[in-house]
Amino acid sequence: MKILMVCLGNICRSPLAHGILAHMIHENGLDWTVESAGTGDWHVGQAPDRRSVSVAKKYGVDISAQRARHFAQAFFDQYDYIFVMDDKNYSDVRSLARDEADLKKVKMFLLEGIVPDPYFDETQFEPVYQLIADRCQVLINELQSEN
Ligand code: 4NP
Repeated sequence: MKILMVCLGNICRSPLAHGILAHMIHENGLDWTVESAGTGDWHVGQAPDRRSVSVAKKYGVDISAQRARHFAQAFFDQYDYIFVMDDKNYSDVRSLARDEADLKKVKMFLLEGIVPDPYFDETQFEPVYQLIADRCQVLINELQSEN
């Protein structure tokens, strides 16, 4: 199974979701892949934001080797599930869908609400990490029972 995590810049939130879920997939010995991308292209090729790298490292997750990518329409063919962090990501990704099958792949990462963008608020990296990690713990079980 191939999973894609999407946010705006692909340097703060989706790299955390990518790194945390990859860590859990590895720990559980699952044969799944997870990657990430951003709906914006400003940071393409860059490493994640140092504040995301730092909070992840604190919890034993290394995201430093990730590089930002721009979401492309072809990604609908490459992934089974596309999880987005907020409503704008949701409408931006859906606007690129070619058909119902593409649309069906796009899901909000959280069951309720959004993952807030921490980019302009230093204090939000820790709570955003916790929010994403808690959701990944549940998501991995949901995906295992669906697949
Ligand atoms: P992200 O955060 O979508 O969680 O990666 C952002 C990073 C950069 C920008 C916006 C959001 N930016 O405007 O450059």
